[in-house]
Amino acid sequence: MNIEYKINASVSAEQFIELLRQSTLGARRPIDDRECMEGMVKNSNLMVSAWDGEKLIGISRSMTDFHYACYLSDLAIDEKYQNSGVGKKLLVYTQEQLGSKCKLILIAAPVANSYYEHIGFTNNQRCWVLEREQCISK
Ligand SMILES: CC(C)(COP(=O)(O)OP(=O)(O)OC[C@H]1O[C@@H](n2cnc3c(N)ncnc32)[C@H](O)[C@@H]1OP(=O)(O)O)[C@@H](O)C(=O)NCCC(=O)NCCS
Repeated sequence: MNIEYKINASVSAEQFIELLRQSTLGARRPIDDRECMEGMVKNSNLMVSAWDGEKLIGISRSMTDFHYACYLSDLAIDEKYQNSGVGKKLLVYTQEQLGSKCKLILIAAPVANSYYEHIGFTNNQRCWVLEREQCISK
């Protein structure tokens, strides 16, 4: 398999949506909300992508300051290419873009929970999420 990895290559909302569909992560992302999906690809500041020719087959999409924290929002591999090391390589290339003290932080999809442990992430019980419909009282 000749897979090419690219740092911050242009990825269209359509390519991103199609990949999420093909990876199963589409079930957990707002793929029918075009504006949101376009905002996701346009406004992340670190995106490593994997290509089989012209076909996008994997992505690692993050927001980071490159020094302290890197928030990995999506890691998705086309099902046909899963379990062949693409996910791991995308994370290696993501980490290579970061400073030596910069942590990778993410919320795992249920099916991928054991994956992160398997490749060396540690679990943090103090991860918190504020849903958009929740308001902090002033
Ligand atoms: C989870 C996912 C990103 C893993 O990527 P991948 O390219 O398929 O996995 P890799 O080839 O990098 O696997 C590396 C190792 O992890 C293991 N592994 C793969 N998926 C696993 C899983 N779900 N649970 C535990 N271990 C897993 C592999 O067997 C391999 O082990 P080895 O190195 O000992 O041989 C990919 O399967 C995927 O896109 N899943 C659906 C979308 C999703 O849930 N993404 C995560 C969002 S947080």
